[in-house]
Amino acid sequence: MLQSVTNQMLFLALLFLLPQAPATAPSSGQASARVWEGRNAEYEAYLRAAPVARMAAIEIGVTHPKRAFFAEGGLATSAAWKPLRPGFRNGYWESYKSEVAAYELDKLLDLGMVPVVVERRIDGAPGAAILWLEGVRTWTEVQPLTKPASWSRQLARMKLFDDLIGNPDRNKGNLLVDGAWNLYLIDHSRAFLDDRALPQAIDHVDSALWTRMEALDERAISAAAGAWLNKSQINSLLARRDKMAATIAALVKKNGRAAVFVW
Ligand SMILES: Nc1ncnc2c1ncn2[C@@H]1O[C@H](COP(=O)(O)OP(=O)(O)O)[C@@H](O)[C@H]1O
Ligand SMILES: [Mg+2]
Repeated sequence: MLQSVTNQMLFLALLFLLPQAPATAPSSGQASARVWEGRNAEYEAYLRAAPVARMAAIEIGVTHPKRAFFAEGGLATSAAWKPLRPGFRNGYWESYKSEVAAYELDKLLDLGMVPVVVERRIDGAPGAAILWLEGVRTWTEVQPLTKPASWSRQLARMKLFDDLIGNPDRNKGNLLVDGAWNLYLIDHSRAFLDDRALPQAIDHVDSALWTRMEALDERAISAAAGAWLNKSQINSLLARRDKMAATIAALVKKNGRAAVFVW
């Protein structure tokens, strides 16, 4: 576990430090994979009810999710299927409910980085069905490419989100990138730790996102994600948010507002 924590810290340190190669055309054109934009309810309804035509194994990953394929010609080809019953596995808290709650929080905050997730049953087992992102590249594939100006803002938004939801598992396997350089956040089964620690160091802050995070209260979180989070998890989320506020206030005091709120 120490090894994995060390690897993760190394990865996060490398996010900003690695030199970047000259511009290369993105491998998958300029297409956005955010097909659900403005159509969340439609995609949610489809994922909840579409019959599963076949189930395939996913070769990468730790918890061995499956990929559920729907009938051809439907709204979506497939979904990642994670029937992770809430509990500890290999020392980590895991729950399919955290996948749903992460998506609901993304919606509440108008983040737009987590693909659609719904709770459903397949073969009698409850789990999270996560819209499969088509035509995306892995972190490793895009790492050597020169990034557009939008990139650092997306990373800053990711960090705020991971701190808020208490996600200790942001690593290169849990990030995907489309042809338009949109960054996607996946794999939140370990998030919503009942813990006040902030997994990411905050350096720069997106004003619009932070304003929405500052406005969160118990009522708003319960309304959005109360079906998948208990009271204690919600209180921990709010405690992390308050800690983020204190961290940001200290940064502003030290470096000035303009150096912290750069977007
Ligand atoms: N919604 C998705 N769209 C595209 N690829 C996905 C999606 N969900 C998972 N994957 C792929 O499957 C891998 C494993 O899924 P992940 O949710 O990270 O589970 P694990 O807990 O096993 O790490 C990911 O690294 C990614 O390559
Ligand atoms: Mg993963």
